[in-house]
Amino acid sequence: MFGSSGMRVPVVGMGTWQTYDVRGTEAEERRVVTDAAFEAGATFFDSSPMYGEAEHVLGATLQGRRERAFVATKLWTADDREAERQVAAAFRCFLGRVDVYQVHNLVAWPRRLAELERLRVAGTVGVIGLTHYSRDAFAELRRAMADRRVGAIQIPYNPLERDVESVILPAAADRGLGVIVMRPFGQGRLARRRVPPEALVPLAPFGVASWPQALLKWILSDARCHVVIPATTSPAHMRMNAAAGRAPWFGPEERAYVARLAQT
Ligand SMILES: NC(=O)c1ccc[n+]([C@@H]2O[C@H](COP(=O)([O-])OP(=O)(O)OC[C@H]3O[C@@H](n4cnc5c(N)ncnc54)[C@H](OP(=O)(O)O)[C@@H]3O)[C@@H](O)[C@H]2O)c1
Repeated sequence: MFGSSGMRVPVVGMGTWQTYDVRGTEAEERRVVTDAAFEAGATFFDSSPMYGEAEHVLGATLQGRRERAFVATKLWTADDREAERQVAAAFRCFLGRVDVYQVHNLVAWPRRLAELERLRVAGTVGVIGLTHYSRDAFAELRRAMADRRVGAIQIPYNPLERDVESVILPAAADRGLGVIVMRPFGQGRLARRRVPPEALVPLAPFGVASWPQALLKWILSDARCHVVIPATTSPAHMRMNAAAGRAPWFGPEERAYVARLAQT
């Protein structure tokens, strides 16, 4: 899916929840985070109208390079007129095109899918996606994923949140859907875990030099996952994260090892 639309897969991108919901000088400072993402080749960005100023701030940091970015955003409303307003706002921020347009948290997904399909046929949307963060919604996500208009899903996945492994990831692989992984660091909690440097030595041949990189590589080494979108306010973290998006990938032994480290 993402491969056929021209993206290198698998890739590290960037989320914008909270981190890009800022104003004034803080908003201007986010440009250097986007700069770091571009320099590192991490040009997949995820946003939503639910994230306050984030679409607007992301759009501003993409000025002059929008065509080199892959933008994913979302519709988040049960109201048709509000949906139209959200589309118009996103098209202003992202210069008339959204590469992956997702139904946020499955809100009113049958109505939103119809609308997104019209935009896809018109050529202003690349791929239609569905997102949900909660395992309580995975049965409904599974039903919605069967719709032929859907080309991608966005779900949480990390060594401590593995609910998608039983049904959602196998179904996505069966249907050939693109899989975007949210919350790779459990909203930062997992990345901040103190893992001693000597514990990372066995992962050095895989290009892993830090614990956050081990977590991102754990995700992307699952062949059913295509894009991981850690959020950050730090250019240095952005560079570190992007470096985890390169081969060689972990095998089952390294994945089991990282999962054990995450539990300690
Ligand atoms: N329902 C949905 O559709 C939904 C729900 C949740 C999330 N999402 C998407 O998924 C994205 C990612 O999830 P998330 O923002 O909840 O959390 P996350 O990416 O798991 O964690 C973000 C946190 O990790 C820290 N971090 C990032 N890189 C780091 C590094 N190299 N070293 C140490 N700390 C690092 C950041 O702090 P620093 O600023 O200090 O780097 C930030 O506090 C969101 O931004 C959003 O785009 C979608």
